[in-house]
Amino acid sequence: MSNQVTIPFGTITITDTAKRLINECLETKRISCGRLVREFEDRFAGLLGVKEAVAVSSGTDADILALAVLHDFGAQRGDEVIVPALSFVATGNAVVHAGFTPVFVDIERETLNIDPARIEAAITSKTRAIMPVHLMGKPAEMDTINAIAKKHGLVVVEDAAEAHGALYKGKPAGSLGDLAAFSTYVAHIITTGEGGIITTNNEQYGDILRSLRSHGRNCTCKHCILNSGADYCAKRFKGVGGEDIRFTFDRIGYSCKMNELEAAIGIGAMEVYEDILKKRHDNLMHVLNRFDRFAPWLSTIKEEAHEQIGPHAIPIIINEGAPFTRAELTLHLEKNGIETRTLFVSMPTQCPGFEYLGYKLGQFPHAEYLGHHGLHIGVHQDVGIEEMEYVLAIIGSFIDSK
Ligand SMILES: Cc1ncc(COP(=O)(O)O)c(C=O)c1O
Repeated sequence: MSNQVTIPFGTITITDTAKRLINECLETKRISCGRLVREFEDRFAGLLGVKEAVAVSSGTDADILALAVLHDFGAQRGDEVIVPALSFVATGNAVVHAGFTPVFVDIERETLNIDPARIEAAITSKTRAIMPVHLMGKPAEMDTINAIAKKHGLVVVEDAAEAHGALYKGKPAGSLGDLAAFSTYVAHIITTGEGGIITTNNEQYGDILRSLRSHGRNCTCKHCILNSGADYCAKRFKGVGGEDIRFTFDRIGYSCKMNELEAAIGIGAMEVYEDILKKRHDNLMHVLNRFDRFAPWLSTIKEEAHEQIGPHAIPIIINEGAPFTRAELTLHLEKNGIETRTLFVSMPTQCPGFEYLGYKLGQFPHAEYLGHHGLHIGVHQDVGIEEMEYVLAIIGSFIDSK
């Protein structure tokens, strides 16, 4: 392997504002969820044009809480949520941790996303939600998915972990379903280091989410003044019989608040968001627009006229009949300083954790194919067109040698 990684998979931009805010937190000793988390939430909601954004400690928690809201509306433990077979495993894990059973549907190989034509066949009397994933920032086919959900009375939760900056018919990912979950882990465009955020236009959902992230407490205020240095909370001892609402638990909750230090990094990231987005999108399109040269052995996704891909990473698929394996291409890229990740696996049939559901290998041919033949590489803001040309050259030299 080369000692020098030329193109790491991800990066993080920590701005001067972030550093200043972090220092302020340290000086004032106010580091748990407070003023900065609210500010990050307000800015994130503003960016998407939605009413509510609730920050949590990971994208997985964001997925879990978005689904757990359904328990307030009659959903039972063991009810079903439809998800694509191919995603980062967090999508499937989250369904289980929210108390539901994942029902997997195969993906389309061209889009990497849930095949809308297969969704209705997976709906049963126990289905409560559809959770499409905008994998690699490419928006799922939301018009069709929303129409199916409406017809069957289901909630749509977008897993938008990888879809910062993605647009579908002019509207941002994260504003397309009933709720959406983003990851703000370091590899993502708006990052807080570790973290996640749920967006919704439903204020009641917003209240429930704030309760869920803090043990199911009765506290749901959007702008909590505890830990803000402001006045004492006038609502606190106004529970039934004058009880403390902070120790009144309305539902089974989780413990997954974002902290102030993370929010500070996120607020900083917001300042440079447009620049980062443009640079990453330019990088992505530079490679996607030149990828045909690797046909028929390699393929990737395309940006269609109705969308803008959220530039998360470049997916690469090794097609049938290619005279090399994924392992060989991966090694070649890594040896030349280009970090790789696999393109995930078919959760129901290639992840032992989901064996209890009884799916059989072969039921999800597209997801399973990508489980063996897909990888992805970075397009982040610390690299540019020169590095993208390097990626093309390294892949090209590999193919020419075969
Ligand atoms: C599609 C998808 N969903 C959920 C997650 C979970 O996010 P986190 O790693 O922040 O928990 C990720 C992670 O990047 C992801 O790619």
